[in-house]
Amino acid sequence: ARREGPVKVLRHASEGFRALPGAAELEAQHDPRAPYVHYISNETVEGVQFHRTVGRGDVLRVCDMSSDFLSRPFEIEDFAIVYAHAQKNLGPAGVTVVLIRDDIVDRVPDGLPAMMDYREHVRMGSVYNTPPVFSIYVTMLVSRWLRNDVGGLEAMQAVNAIKAASLYAALDASDGFYRGHAAVADRSLMNVAFRLPTPALEQQFLDEARARGLHGLDGHRSLGGLRASLYNAVSIEAVDALCAFMGDFRAAHAPGG
Ligand SMILES: Cc1ncc(COP(=O)(O)O)c(C=O)c1O
Repeated sequence: ARREGPVKVLRHASEGFRALPGAAELEAQHDPRAPYVHYISNETVEGVQFHRTVGRGDVLRVCDMSSDFLSRPFEIEDFAIVYAHAQKNLGPAGVTVVLIRDDIVDRVPDGLPAMMDYREHVRMGSVYNTPPVFSIYVTMLVSRWLRNDVGGLEAMQAVNAIKAASLYAALDASDGFYRGHAAVADRSLMNVAFRLPTPALEQQFLDEARARGLHGLDGHRSLGGLRASLYNAVSIEAVDALCAFMGDFRAAHAPGG
């Protein structure tokens, strides 16, 4: 975007993403002359998520929903472009879903390499290049599961809300033994980053969790600590098992039990 014109960045990665810009800040920064506003609905490393649609209707919205697409309903009419890779809630890596409004496709400038020109993808029925058939097939199965077995996006959102509420309750009821990373108002329903009193205890937590069959709880390498991801495929039972383990671990290791 910088090649095309001035870009205003509201949050630099160097500042971290512990808290999201609030409504007042976004309103103060709003520029009705901007061609579009781009944002990411859920940030996976630090575990923050917008619980509202960002921006105003007078500027086109483009959203990277990679890490919470199909975890909850959203109003597609509010967006010019939504894109999401598959590998969080949809299926295997290799597929990216792009939802783009017809009038935005019509505005694609000439001269782009064909691969980057959405008109070309539309013209070719989304098979401009060799499609990753297996990833697309599994994505189809997952979307059918979501519709027929789960019961749609409202039902999925309800399940995801139960999972996140259980885990955040386990953090909040721990007298500071488990410390949630993200600002409470911006807590993600998808990724829960937290810490223990010492790195040594965090390592012990990971080792004991693994022994109980609870895997993948390491924090992102850029942040450290611990992180539980609660994507659609994670069941309520799995989160209950994690919370039970966290209670046991705390009883064994917190000062005064
Ligand atoms: C919101 C979001 N966008 C983009 C990416 C990067 O995706 P990829 O590795 O497919 O480029 C991630 C990865 O976690 C993500 O969460």
